[in-house]
Amino acid sequence: MIVLGIESSCDETACALVNDKREILSSVVWSQYDEHRRFGGVVPEIAARAHLEKCDILIREAMEKAGKTFKDLDAIAVAGGPGLIGGVLVGVMTAKAIALCQNLPFVAVNHLEGHALTVRLSHPVEFPYLLLLTSGGHCQVLIVRGVGQYEKLGGTIDDSAGEAFDKVAKMLDIGYPGGPNLEKRAAQGNPKAYDFPVPMRGRKGCDFSFSGLKTAVRVAIERKETLTEQDKNDMCASFQGAVVAEMKDRLSHAVTIFKEKCPEAKDIVVAGGVAANGAVRQMIEELAGKNGLVFSAPPVKLCTDNGVMIAWAGLERFRLGMTNNFDFRARPRWPLESLSNNLTEG
Ligand code: KG4
Ligand code: ZN
Repeated sequence: MIVLGIESSCDETACALVNDKREILSSVVWSQYDEHRRFGGVVPEIAARAHLEKCDILIREAMEKAGKTFKDLDAIAVAGGPGLIGGVLVGVMTAKAIALCQNLPFVAVNHLEGHALTVRLSHPVEFPYLLLLTSGGHCQVLIVRGVGQYEKLGGTIDDSAGEAFDKVAKMLDIGYPGGPNLEKRAAQGNPKAYDFPVPMRGRKGCDFSFSGLKTAVRVAIERKETLTEQDKNDMCASFQGAVVAEMKDRLSHAVTIFKEKCPEAKDIVVAGGVAANGAVRQMIEELAGKNGLVFSAPPVKLCTDNGVMIAWAGLERFRLGMTNNFDFRARPRWPLESLSNNLTEG
């Protein structure tokens, strides 16, 4: 079984082919960093146009690299949302056109479900598992009970972690994209140099908050007359430390709830762009060890947006008979918890 996946919901145009033996036959990612860099963030209209220019080219590239033709495919999957609607529309219309012409099943994948399920391609993780999904647009902790079955334990009440990384990177003027640059700087800095707040520490539940932390960094920057490179590195290290502490506090509660609800389960997973961060991964690995859980995360390359995650989630859906009709509409908002197990849905 071979599935082609297309991702175009934010600032990466990406395509991949995967099979049901958990093999990646090809994967191409085209990041639009150069298009957005001078604006310091993603400009939706520019993103949509760039997806339109690149989508067909990348599909051809992915097919050629895998040595396959459309006749070899069993289904075509596309990120149907949530995301920037212009980009999502480009992917959805392209996927529908190919599916219609080639008489292939069409699978609309929730982008977050793509992140959530990718670990099952790279690791033998069974349902149910506890998931920290942390990306540019989202930060939530969920129990993944099955394909399309998500129980949310908590989410952010303001910014996502990725957003906080990106905004702090912008304030410190350390370049775009923010997250990876900030992590590199943090490795050169002193995490104890600044005592930044850990917003929700000590509170009940599993919700996150990052906005106050971001403001604390802004205030610290404003207090400085000059900001040396070392100051920036120290701020990055202290900020990253506070993010990790916030996640650890929230996840500790989630682990307790998860163990009560799913006593036989053993897996804890992190996914999404921020899961590429080494300090975040290390913290969860330690937390898992202390709680008798097994830690897994997709390889770093599959944490940030890519086509493999869409192709794989599409394959997981397709093999359960969960395909979509051509009246499926691209969705700018599409909460994971709203996914249903309808076999065919518009
Ligand atoms: O999943 P993703 O590629 O796109 C969304 O679905 O949002 O996540 C992108 C986010 C960005 O905010 C980016 O700064 C962050 O992931 N990110 C990182 C790292 N790599 C990417 N944050 C911290 N450390 C990293 N190494
Ligand atoms: Zn993503």
